[in-house]
Amino acid sequence: MNPLEKRKNTFAVTTPLYYVNALPHIGSAYTTMAADALTRFQRLQGRSALLITGTDEHGQKIQQSAEQQGRDPQSFCDQMSASFTSLWQKLNIKYDRFIRTTTDRHQVIVKEFFQRVWDKDDIYLGQQQGWYCVSCEEFKEERELLEGKRCPIHTNKQVEWRDEQNYFFRLSKYQEQLLELYRERPDFIQPESRRNEVLNFVKQGLQDFSISRVNLDWGFPVPTDPNHTLYVWFDALLGYVTALLEPEEEPTLENALAKWWPINLHLIGKDILRFHAVYWPAMLMSAEVPLPGKVFGHGFLTKDGQKMGKSLGNTLDPVELVEKYGADAVRYYFLKEIEFGKDGDFNESRFIHVLNADLANDLGNLLNRTLNMVKKYCGGNVPEVNNQQVPVEHPLKAIGLTLGEEVTQAYEALAFSQACEAILSLVRTCNKFIDEQAPWTLYKQGKQQEVEQVLYAVLESVRLAAYLLSPIIPTISNKIYNQLGFNVNFDDHSQHLVAAPFNAHAQWGILSIKQQLAQPGPVFPRLEMPPSS
Ligand code: MSP
Repeated sequence: MNPLEKRKNTFAVTTPLYYVNALPHIGSAYTTMAADALTRFQRLQGRSALLITGTDEHGQKIQQSAEQQGRDPQSFCDQMSASFTSLWQKLNIKYDRFIRTTTDRHQVIVKEFFQRVWDKDDIYLGQQQGWYCVSCEEFKEERELLEGKRCPIHTNKQVEWRDEQNYFFRLSKYQEQLLELYRERPDFIQPESRRNEVLNFVKQGLQDFSISRVNLDWGFPVPTDPNHTLYVWFDALLGYVTALLEPEEEPTLENALAKWWPINLHLIGKDILRFHAVYWPAMLMSAEVPLPGKVFGHGFLTKDGQKMGKSLGNTLDPVELVEKYGADAVRYYFLKEIEFGKDGDFNESRFIHVLNADLANDLGNLLNRTLNMVKKYCGGNVPEVNNQQVPVEHPLKAIGLTLGEEVTQAYEALAFSQACEAILSLVRTCNKFIDEQAPWTLYKQGKQQEVEQVLYAVLESVRLAAYLLSPIIPTISNKIYNQLGFNVNFDDHSQHLVAAPFNAHAQWGILSIKQQLAQPGPVFPRLEMPPSS
């Protein structure tokens, strides 16, 4: 039995462990926002969830970056790693574990794991000849290279010729077992297009890969031969295991794997798919450790239709973006506007347009004008409407009744954009409904009961929308819930589990007259277009 079957009420997800050679970029922010939204959704449903992130701090690339700045590598890593935690705070990322691969505890875990693989006779000394890309920290096949011996991913960087003794991991031994894994668990690699990529790669035949380097100081020594330094990827992937240790726990593989292993999902970008979907499962097979649930490779972000890169000078600084527009705006744009799994674009005018349309107008204004009407026409109290008497074919209730299920499926499938679309479609129907029903006219005609029914249905729909959007825009959802008179904090999951449990709040029709509505106020300010656009 897949060990994950036993762990239905817990959920562990990882982001990649980010290289600290440079400050966090929008790509790192993108994966982390998605992982956070997913973890929050798991918690909303009452599962206990663990979000693991961290920094990957060894290897030649980082050693070189530190040297270029005249710094010793450890203090350089300390500083760079802190820029990640600081960005996560700004983006309202509620991570549970932040693993740094330069810690002593990690070294103990790496050593024990290496020993297991060594004892399996899966490591041997050999001669490595090949083209190495320092930016990828990976050997490249000659046929993959671009003209001028440039890396296909870091297109402005030339690869270097290496001819040295390295320790190798017997990846080739696991080819059949890997193919069997992909066959038996067709959802192990997602989306489907990435699975096909990996299948093709593995079917072409796997070569053993080198897991040590010579002439490199910045890394852990190979436990059996200190003249070699362990390859950064061998060490980094194991960060996912070390991260699972409780803070005071003795660092052993057994302890690390006891509670949260296997990880349910590794969220990564498409460029590091091979490491996660081929090398990593093979390493785990060798060490006889159960395999993770899934690997999902998302797409790449571009800016104004162009690949982002330092050479083009068009990188997008996530810190600047979040300081200018706030966490919810950034989270919403990337998760709603880009289909997760596909490549997507950032364009500032589009960004402002989407946020104004969806959050300021459709959602924010709707709540505001409805609450003001409730004040004017219903004395400021939640209208006294019995949900049982609202017919199931009521245009808002009809959508609301199935929305929770639809959105759950979308979140489970990491279809964040689809989840947002479904929720926004209820919100848009509310706006249409109010305009058609014109409660202001009904009020003038003395049709008080009808006014109350209209306003109740809209308020309840906005509540449901806020609840289901809370994993993506927690601050706005908090504001909406508070204005509707709930004492709920979506940033505090032990609180919202009790104050707004999923089985009640993901349904339509729970708003009650007991709620003391608060003063209406804007939940998301309209953004101004920058002068240049
Ligand atoms: N350190 C390794 C991961 C080790 S995991 C055990 C690494 N780090 S990284 O910092 O270079 O990349 C981290 C993530 O950022 C990768 O998932 C990569 O796909 C992602 N992105 C880098 N540029 C990106 C975009 N322009 N768009 C979206 N994501 C991108 O690789």
